[in-house]
Amino acid sequence: MSQHLLVTGGCGFIGSNFIRFVLEQRPDWQITNLDSLTYSGNGENLADVADLDQYHFVHGDIRDDELVKQLIEKTDAIIHFAAESHVDRSILDSKPFIESNVLGTQVLLDAARRKEDYRFIHISTDEVYGDLPLDRPDLLFTEDSPICTHSPYSASKAASDLLVGAYHHTFGLNMNITRCSNNFGPYQFPEKVIPLFVTNLIENEKVPLYGDGSNIRDWLHVIDHCEAILAVFEKGTSGEVYNISGNNERSNLELTGAILDAMGKGKDMIRPVEDRLGHDRRYAIDASKIKTQLGWEPTRSAWPQALEQTVQWYITHATWWQRVKTGEYRTYYQKQYG
Ligand code: NAD
Ligand code: DAU
Repeated sequence: MSQHLLVTGGCGFIGSNFIRFVLEQRPDWQITNLDSLTYSGNGENLADVADLDQYHFVHGDIRDDELVKQLIEKTDAIIHFAAESHVDRSILDSKPFIESNVLGTQVLLDAARRKEDYRFIHISTDEVYGDLPLDRPDLLFTEDSPICTHSPYSASKAASDLLVGAYHHTFGLNMNITRCSNNFGPYQFPEKVIPLFVTNLIENEKVPLYGDGSNIRDWLHVIDHCEAILAVFEKGTSGEVYNISGNNERSNLELTGAILDAMGKGKDMIRPVEDRLGHDRRYAIDASKIKTQLGWEPTRSAWPQALEQTVQWYITHATWWQRVKTGEYRTYYQKQYG
């Protein structure tokens, strides 16, 4: 059945990849993208689809009750990506995280619950489960793992998850929550580790590795994530949480080595820097529920090919990131890395 989706945060990394993916996969659907264009929102991410009849951009904030009410009235479902998304920025200043991630989600929920059977897909993160020890590779987060947040970012995401659950319980909201591991791929803002390291190396600048590099992340290609979200939207059971991951765990040292190899650079390009405050040690997700219940499988995340393709994308899209790595970005970089 044809759908009109309201996508929030569609000018960011995952949202823009999701919009392009859905326009390709479901060409008879309409998409309205609500984005306030914060520092990480970039209209250029969707330049190739901007003129399509099925795509509509609204420049606005998810905290704007009146605007949100109007947009929800016109649409069948919301895929809610909009958020402040970077852990390091949440350590520098947590206020925007509470404002957008918590209050913004509450505004969307209040409008959505008033429209009968409006579907609400909330895009969350594995970070709400806290972290796992490095010496217990047998442990994985499941959907039943307790919420145990460590950073202001993950606390704000967990607060929004709990609100979504409360609106399901209290008002019968037709919803799902997805909790995904670290994404990589094109159009990622170069504050996150992969595009930061790749673009630094292209500019012959060293890469700032936190602590001893032993922390582990579980990497998934962004299009595999988009496919999982579409599966949850089309086939998910209301009220359920779905974990998403590629079972692709790498230490930061291993990740950095793979990037250096792909770019023909040596270990002398690593600059060890002070560790992130409260740095989560290991994220690792058990994604068997979405695989067995919804039939989703990641097909684009295998390393080293998927990582090398991503490195190549940043090499061939220098104009995109060079425009981003100016102004506010430079101020942030100076503050964060000295
Ligand atoms: P991003 O920072 O690249 O994009 C966020 C987008 O939201 C931007 O376009 C920004 O302008 C918009 N936005 C922020 N506040 C807004 C507001 N108040 N009103 C309207 N728009 C607003 O983030 P991303 O990496 O694409 O992450 C998207 C979502 O996925 C987030 O909710 C994040 O928590 C979640 N997530 C990300 C990852 C990852 O690895 N990047 C993994 C799991 C989950
Ligand atoms: O797990 C999902 C989460 O993944 C998402 O919810 C977040 O939105 C997303 O930003 C990401 O969070 P991380 O903190 O894991 O991603 P980041 O790219 O910031 O860091 C990945 C790892 O690399 C982490 O262990 C810290 C390390 N790192 C990061 C930066 C920016 C460095 O060593 N140096 C750096 O300069």
